[in-house]
Amino acid sequence: MEDLHGRVAVVTGAAGGIGLALVEQLAAEGMRVVMSDVDGERLAAAAATVEGEVEPVAADVARPQDVETLATRAAERFGAVDVLCNNAGVTRPGPAWELALEEWQWLLSVNVLGVVHGIRAFVPTMLARGEPGHVVNTASIGGLLPYAGIAAYTASKYAVVGLSEGLRLDLQAAGSPIGVSVLCPGPTETDFRAHSRALHPAGPADDVEGEYDGVARISATAAAALVVDAIRTDRFWVLTHPSYRPAIERRTRGIVETDEVVAGDFR
Ligand SMILES: NC(=O)c1ccc[n+]([C@@H]2O[C@H](COP(=O)([O-])OP(=O)(O)OC[C@H]3O[C@@H](n4cnc5c(N)ncnc54)[C@H](O)[C@@H]3O)[C@@H](O)[C@H]2O)c1
Repeated sequence: MEDLHGRVAVVTGAAGGIGLALVEQLAAEGMRVVMSDVDGERLAAAAATVEGEVEPVAADVARPQDVETLATRAAERFGAVDVLCNNAGVTRPGPAWELALEEWQWLLSVNVLGVVHGIRAFVPTMLARGEPGHVVNTASIGGLLPYAGIAAYTASKYAVVGLSEGLRLDLQAAGSPIGVSVLCPGPTETDFRAHSRALHPAGPADDVEGEYDGVARISATAAAALVVDAIRTDRFWVLTHPSYRPAIERRTRGIVETDEVVAGDFR
């Protein structure tokens, strides 16, 4: 989508971090943006800081009805949606066997079903219009490389990568002009862990401190700029840390040449 001016975007997880940076940059391009988050208070405060035409709509992406209502509100306020950014996400560290089933269900319902709900609520209408459009799903470098201690998050983000690849292929097969990108950020300067803890009572496994100490973190603004460029140029893979490419190659070689799991690291 070369020309973003005057078009309409929806961004979930927009009360802070990467989502808010995306809203700011899309609005600066002249887009009208529906920004959404489950945390209505932080969302309203964030919306008040954005220059441009934005509409805050509180919604829980884990609830299909909320996302349907979000689609209705977006259409009522700004008309047809051109760009959908399924960005909301949460994390909960700990070994797979230690997380309560309820914690698994929460994390998967936000990170995986949240994206599914977005696709189901918006893509059929976008498709029916036959106009160029774009879907951006936020996964993680943890959707391409496994890291010890975050198995549930890894599972959810691998799912987002696979879902995005499938969506890309299916839209191409349908002859649709709707592009797809998957954002795979490495460590990014946001309050991601704190927000997840605030949204959901932390279990005993969530006591990891200093996880990113000494790790190169990208700004949310820089990550969002890569996304805007990917929407413009219809690029699928959006990786924020080129330094991780050798690790991705090592993992792929691990699959075809060895029987080992090759862990990622933050270098
Ligand atoms: N920060 C990082 O290092 C990093 C790295 C890789 C991927 N990511 C991904 O980037 C995305 C944005 O995270 P961020 O780093 O900007 O952190 P963030 O916490 O600032 O943003 C996530 C937002 O999602 C919202 N949210 C959580 N559950 C929700 C729900 N059920 N419905 C609607 N909104 C909900 C939160 O309130 C929060 O505002 C997430 O999908 C995350 O997994 C972040």
